[in-house]
Amino acid sequence: MLPNKVSIFEVGARDGLQNETAVSTAAKRQLIDDLAHAGLTRIEAGSFVSPKWVPQMADSAEVFHSLNRHSGVTYSALTPNLKGLELALNAGADEVAIFGAASESFSQKNINCSIEESIERFIPLMQQAKQHNMPVRGYVSCVLGCPYEGSISHDEVARVSEILFNMGCYEISLGDTIGVGTPLQARKMVEAVSRKVPVEKLALHFHDTYGQALANILACLETGVNVIDSSVAGLGGCPYAKGASGNLATEDVVYMLHGMGIETGVSLEKLALAGNNISQVLGRKNGSKVANALG
Ligand code: HMG
Ligand code: MG
Repeated sequence: MLPNKVSIFEVGARDGLQNETAVSTAAKRQLIDDLAHAGLTRIEAGSFVSPKWVPQMADSAEVFHSLNRHSGVTYSALTPNLKGLELALNAGADEVAIFGAASESFSQKNINCSIEESIERFIPLMQQAKQHNMPVRGYVSCVLGCPYEGSISHDEVARVSEILFNMGCYEISLGDTIGVGTPLQARKMVEAVSRKVPVEKLALHFHDTYGQALANILACLETGVNVIDSSVAGLGGCPYAKGASGNLATEDVVYMLHGMGIETGVSLEKLALAGNNISQVLGRKNGSKVANALG
């Protein structure tokens, strides 16, 4: 059965902007404000990672300090280690996210350690987060394929997801990092993970590199999953497929869900404006088909 309501987790200001030309802190603040005005209540506002690895996110502390906070909105940050958590706590993030991978090679290239080492690193982070009553979300990358290893077994995705969940992550976001998945495979993957982690604790984080994200989401919605990550204006590129579109555009998924009678609490009109504004700042066309159709 399809859900009546879906919770959108907006990642444009982080997953999107980390893969675009750097924009000013003021532009990020404006984007995040516009997103909250559009009714989004879960907004990933930045990441506390090495600025040498991801210079676009180097001003995340300033972004958090400058937020025009809307009540009822959770502003979250991506944190790879204890240092990231400490920076996020100082900056006033409401929630953090750790990120692991279901692929050994991707783990090495993204966070410079093996899957098992990354889990070891997360232990002190989880302990400290607990002391501060800080909710932690968990991402698993490469759930439908890896740029280095190709296909990834559903059992491995389920294994890593279960570890992060048992460590205390309140939700596990399943990342098709390079957007290569297709619908039946996506559904089987979610079914495999839901045998280890309750399906209501899962989120879909499907990139749209190959144009499959909406189809993949549709194929998964009947499993009971009801949280979707997306990025306004399809912000973000794909470092593994030059010139390819990146994240699934929030406007596109909201349009599809509303058309199916599924509530999101988001105003499509205001969302499209938010996307148009940031696209203008970036000097690029809005990456959402729906936003372009709305004009
Ligand atoms: P490392 O070099 O192994 O770490 O990097 P290190 O502990 O040896 O530290 C090296 C330097 O980084 C030191 O500075 C540290 O202080 C600094 P130096 O002495 O050289 O000046 N450092 C930090 N600085 C700021 N914040 C921190 C931090 N930690 C160390 N938290 C590390 C390991 C994890 C830090 C590095 O690999 C890194 O930052 N990686 C981040 C990669 C990243 O952000 N990738 C994109 C996000 S993941 C993603 O997009 C996928 C997702 O969307 C889901 C999906 O689509 O699948 C979530
Ligand atoms: Mg991502």
